[in-house]
Amino acid sequence: MSDNILDKFKDNQEEATIDASKKLKVGFIGTGWIADAHIVEYLKMPDVEIVAGADLVPGKAEAFFKKWNVEGARCYPSHKELLDGEKLDAVSICTYNRTHAECAIYALEKGVNVLLEKPMSVTLDEAVGIRKAEKKSGKIISVGFQPRLDPNMQMIKKIVESGELGRVYYIQTGGGRRHGIPTPFGTSFIEDETAGIGALGDIGCYSLDMVLNAIGYPKPLTVTGYRSDFFGKQEITYTRSGRPAEYAKKFSVDDFGAGFIRLEGGIILDFRIAWDMHLDTPGDTIIMGTKGALRIPSTECWNGTVGGPMKIYHDVAGQPTCTEVPVLHEKLGLFYKKIRSFLDAIKTGGTAPVPTSQIIINQAIIDGIVKSNELGHEIEINIPEV
Ligand SMILES: NC(=O)c1ccc[n+]([C@@H]2O[C@H](COP(=O)([O-])OP(=O)(O)OC[C@H]3O[C@@H](n4cnc5c(N)ncnc54)[C@H](O)[C@@H]3O)[C@@H](O)[C@H]2O)c1
Repeated sequence: MSDNILDKFKDNQEEATIDASKKLKVGFIGTGWIADAHIVEYLKMPDVEIVAGADLVPGKAEAFFKKWNVEGARCYPSHKELLDGEKLDAVSICTYNRTHAECAIYALEKGVNVLLEKPMSVTLDEAVGIRKAEKKSGKIISVGFQPRLDPNMQMIKKIVESGELGRVYYIQTGGGRRHGIPTPFGTSFIEDETAGIGALGDIGCYSLDMVLNAIGYPKPLTVTGYRSDFFGKQEITYTRSGRPAEYAKKFSVDDFGAGFIRLEGGIILDFRIAWDMHLDTPGDTIIMGTKGALRIPSTECWNGTVGGPMKIYHDVAGQPTCTEVPVLHEKLGLFYKKIRSFLDAIKTGGTAPVPTSQIIINQAIIDGIVKSNELGHEIEINIPEV
């Protein structure tokens, strides 16, 4: 068996030639779980030189580069020292949600292009801060929504844009897991001081992106939001998956969230997301329009999959008809495409593949759900102009 950790990831490489005459200097902020998914793709890129990384946990960045056989990469104790000490072209921000904004803003202020993991931030205020820093810097910042690059997700947008559904007036989306609170590498997803938001920010943001991207990200106007934590605080939740029961005491985010959102253009968005529930799924995604409706079988859209062929319900020659849309398959991995599209945007001076001008709306809805839940009534959503 080969010793090279990269060998098992070789299947997703692109055939097209990449101009490697100039190498982009890339750094990492946060070298935890998702940083692995980033570095494995950067290592396939002939136009990238991985030069440095930072992590708050002593020795973690060093161990990360050792694991991936990256020699000579310099390691720093936080994002500040890294960005002060290096002249980078790009950085992958792979920290937990609570430090997304400070790391992204500092990187942009230092003139570095940013690939920021999702969710964009915890609060709307932080997202606005990122947008302001981006505008001032003139650099690219792309948010890590890799499912956008999946052909099935793109098909949803194409169907809406084709006019096949007519005027869209109601959307139901969301999803979740029967038992799936994420704690494989500790508690950074379930503690308020690191994650800030739970299921809403982990998987809810993907469901929102799937449908909002399809309809062109209209502005949200009002939201009635709900959050709960019934499962995360139970010891059985962790012992069932072989994790320490004490995690229950640390749980301080949501394991379920829901929102009823009015969007500009008279569209209603009905959303719910669960990390844990006594149900297989809270429902398919449906997009209802005046000429047709689209059913997207309940999906783990965070990994870019649809739960089966999508169906368009429409009348053909006056007859109620159902057209099945075959599931599409992608040769390249979604993380490969996420990193490659970010690098290409930097090299060509193009726009960010997943722009903050859209994702700030996603964040505003999540922020609105949190605030509405605290207040116990519907609230208006106001996104400051940047
Ligand atoms: N796109 C995806 O499919 C996907 C999948 C999983 C996680 N994520 C996102 O990735 C992010 C990280 O998740 P994870 O599971 O890797 O978390 P993790 O807790 O395993 O790793 C985060 C690391 O960031 C470090 N860190 C935090 N603040 C820092 C700072 N200021 N400077 C340097 N290091 C800092 C922490 O010490 C930690 O080691 C989360 O926001 C999560 O939502 C995305």
